[in-house]
Amino acid sequence: MEATTRFSLVLFGATGDLAHRKLFPSLFRLWKSELIDDFLILATGRSQEDRDAFLTHLREHVEEAGDEPEAWSKFESFIAYFRLDVKSDEAFRGMTRELDRLESDRGMSGNRLFYLSVSPSLFGAVTENLAASGMLKRRANDDDNGWSRVVVEKPFGHDLESAKELDRHLSRFVDESQVYRIDHYLGKETVQNIVAFRFATGMIEPLWNSHHIASVQITVSETLGVGERAGYYDSAGALRDMMQNHMMQLLAMTAMEPPLSLAPNDIRNEKVRVLRSIRIPTTPEEVAATTVQGQYGPGVIDGKNVPGYRDESDVAADSTTPTYIAHRLHLNSWRWTGVPFYLRHGKRLPARMSEIRVRFRIPPLHLFRASACDPSCPNVLRIRIQPDEGIRLSVGAKRPGPGVNLESVDLQFTYADAFGTDLPEAYERLLLDAMQGDPTLFIRQDEVEASWAWADAVLNGLESLPKPQFPNYAAGSTGPEDAGRIFLPLQGPRSNEPCDGWGSFNGGAGSDRE
Ligand code: BG6
Repeated sequence: MEATTRFSLVLFGATGDLAHRKLFPSLFRLWKSELIDDFLILATGRSQEDRDAFLTHLREHVEEAGDEPEAWSKFESFIAYFRLDVKSDEAFRGMTRELDRLESDRGMSGNRLFYLSVSPSLFGAVTENLAASGMLKRRANDDDNGWSRVVVEKPFGHDLESAKELDRHLSRFVDESQVYRIDHYLGKETVQNIVAFRFATGMIEPLWNSHHIASVQITVSETLGVGERAGYYDSAGALRDMMQNHMMQLLAMTAMEPPLSLAPNDIRNEKVRVLRSIRIPTTPEEVAATTVQGQYGPGVIDGKNVPGYRDESDVAADSTTPTYIAHRLHLNSWRWTGVPFYLRHGKRLPARMSEIRVRFRIPPLHLFRASACDPSCPNVLRIRIQPDEGIRLSVGAKRPGPGVNLESVDLQFTYADAFGTDLPEAYERLLLDAMQGDPTLFIRQDEVEASWAWADAVLNGLESLPKPQFPNYAAGSTGPEDAGRIFLPLQGPRSNEPCDGWGSFNGGAGSDRE
């Protein structure tokens, strides 16, 4: 692929955690792979005095800078720094002059990607000042006169109304086609592969419906706690932080109809149809019957004692913020009517594991009833998002020897075996796509609104129910016991699946039963 060249990436929040952990390492790797070249990164921030101080700061915080010092020092030639108070219009005027000068020195025509890696409370100030200083133009794709694109990180609002408000604000300055809303799950190879696997494999799609599929379970389990992010997390909680965005995208990719083509809007049109088809709970009782929340208490992870959520820094001793959520939903669509979708996510669970489990219906005639693999042992397709990325399908096989004894065995593909390379970091793909003007893997505003419509209904329902007794699961355990009423602890396909590798932490796929 030819390198993408001659653009500026203006980075707000260049000294922040995301910039250190994801953005600079991804840019460095894109450049080393010759996917980008001849570009400018204008890093902005308040804490560092000047470019030298900023580069020293980066070297201290970005692992790759220490691992490959020679290549990193060449990469530094693409980085400029501007000390900026984002609330000062005067400072923005100074930055415009600096950006014009840097671009004209490099013979660039003003193709600009503005990356807002800042708290949402600063989106307003940054975009208003960008527009007022003339840096932001209403041009999504115009290489001759310079394009402007704005990359926004989640959260896209706190609820439906604030998401709409954020959009009204952005649309004062830019068109929808210029807004690149990042959901980093879409940058993961395994998530993109859901569409490839479903629509490039002739034998899968005819089975992908309620006639053959009994249930779908989507799990995103983390071992990490809230870390240093309680300031944000405590007002968000598990549903807003993970389910409203990343998990809704996994749901949409799993359940969408075949798109007309791979064009960005053909794919996004199908995703939004799924999100709009979610049956929205209408009463608190319905929410209570389909949702379980949890919050971790102290416990043990990987042999180490870890504090409970309420003991984390910046968390109130009586916080009722959930760090676990399990929810069962249905889609009102021709394809999926009657199929439960089980979604669950939690922090401080025993394993880091994200996967989609598709449980197929059992055969109509139980020929092998006496066997070890009895009719309650269905075919399960597991799309493993991370780690051990790959796909595994369990099928019954006759154990060699006398009699007819079946066992569950696997047909399996792993990225490690098939491709033998490390998977690229999600941000590499997303940054490159934004630079190239491909919005396929970015969230459209109607997707944001459709998933908030569902999330608001669940959150409002939970709000009007009696507060749960928190903490209700120990760090390192499999989550609140109560979750069993949503995810019945069925074993399968094997009863002794381990917590890591291909196993799931509770050994069970979601129940087929309502
Ligand atoms: C972020 C959430 O969006 O995704 C975090 O805010 C979460 O709370 C993270 O830990 C998980 O991402 P990944 O790629 O590690 O699964």
